[in-house]
Amino acid sequence: MELRCQVAAAEAWSQVAADALVLVLRVAQPAGLDGALAALLADALASGDFELKAGRTLYLHRPAGVKAARVVFAAAPAAGPKSFRAAVVAALAQIKPLGARHVAVALAGGDALAAAHAEAVAAAAHEATYVYRHTKPSAPKAPAFARVTLLGGKAEAKALQQGLARGGAIAAGVTLARECANRPGNHCTPSWLGELARKLGREHGLKVQVLDRGAIEKIGMGALLAVAQGSHEPPRFIVLRYDGAPKSEPPLVLVGKGITFDTGGISIKPAAEMDEMKFDMGGAASVLGTLRAVSELKPRINVVGLIPSCENMPGGRAVKPGDVVTSLSGQTIEILNTDAEGRLILCDALTYAERFKPAVVVDVATLTGACVIALGHVHSGLFSADDELAADLLASGDAAADTCWRMPMDDDYDEGLKSSFADMANVGARAGGSITAAMFLRRYTSKYRWAHLDIAGTAWKSGAAKGATGRPVPLLTHFVLRRAGG
Ligand code: BES
Ligand code: MN
Ligand code: ZN
Repeated sequence: MELRCQVAAAEAWSQVAADALVLVLRVAQPAGLDGALAALLADALASGDFELKAGRTLYLHRPAGVKAARVVFAAAPAAGPKSFRAAVVAALAQIKPLGARHVAVALAGGDALAAAHAEAVAAAAHEATYVYRHTKPSAPKAPAFARVTLLGGKAEAKALQQGLARGGAIAAGVTLARECANRPGNHCTPSWLGELARKLGREHGLKVQVLDRGAIEKIGMGALLAVAQGSHEPPRFIVLRYDGAPKSEPPLVLVGKGITFDTGGISIKPAAEMDEMKFDMGGAASVLGTLRAVSELKPRINVVGLIPSCENMPGGRAVKPGDVVTSLSGQTIEILNTDAEGRLILCDALTYAERFKPAVVVDVATLTGACVIALGHVHSGLFSADDELAADLLASGDAAADTCWRMPMDDDYDEGLKSSFADMANVGARAGGSITAAMFLRRYTSKYRWAHLDIAGTAWKSGAAKGATGRPVPLLTHFVLRRAGG
């Protein structure tokens, strides 16, 4: 469904011609509520039906004296776009099952609306309308609303338009990433990902190259090939380029882990929840989504996306514990655990990144269960020895409401990767597992500035609302825009 977001001048809210009016309330008794609205709110507060507490909403149907047929009060007790966004999400959840097609959103009693609020509205509206149906024709219909209007003052209109454009582009990137990661492993294969990248390139003016097994062999990506050899699905190595600046400018390189299904290989995983390992290409999906957003927003910067992609399967030809392989960098790796496959495909992509003489490289991967234990599902794990780069990524995450948390990378953590039979082992001890994984990757990144995002806890949700989140597309898009100077 096409969702249209727009800005309209904030006149008398009680007279707004929309099917639903969402009033986000920063304070309990805001000035400026016109017509019947002030009395309706005062009454709701007095009766206890509504309170200024995070998450609270109140739905009113055809209230007298208001033109909109539906009114939702939504509390945003804290300042800033984060609380505002949560309120809009809660209000849209109320409206979602109803017949409203045009929803107007206003902020009462807060500071003036800014671009970040507009971005939040666009994100919330798109989030509310997403329904996965590719392999589920019986999925519920998308909500009726197709148009969302943000009611802002004339002075802010330009900033709000920009915020909506940014939010809309990010939302389209998030939706692409979700759609891609939600597809089951028998649909989303490495070759399908390659085709999707090609299509993205055609439709959004990106240069795309998809390398097949032969080309990957020729380059010498021994670590990627070792993971791929257990599966009948052939691997792919995908290169996407967005050229927004002169060729002479070194690009920002994004690398996304594209394991389309992770059984663990010979070090096979337990059966419980193994289905969720179809999401193990969440890093790849977020790189595609980010490039989708960037190609729409057109910042003045060069960006390269690299996606190593294969399946991790057991089988007669699969790599075995103890096997030693030679990575593209020339360093040898003793594969002690075939389930630590993400770092194997990433290390070859990180070496490949050298040829672009990158300004910075950020890899994104559903890399370790240990990261989920450390940070849960709130923050993505951020690993970098580069303080300035880490600060940029943290700030981008905050601005995008798609946060990450910095983890340590002391040399001491590298100890566990020593091997008697190769330059390094692919696993260390269990303790600090997300950090040893980052230390492994660090051995391939000495030629450029580098950061690693472990999105194992944030790329998808489990349980009743199982599905891909599209994270960290918002963080990465903000990071790209920030590096482009916007
Ligand atoms: N894709 C998994 C990481 C993962 C596991 C993400 C569970 C989200 C939930 C990765 O390939 C993996 O299997 N990692 C191992 C590493 C271990 C063998 C050192 C892990 O985390 O158990
Ligand atoms: Mn694994
Ligand atoms: Zn994996």
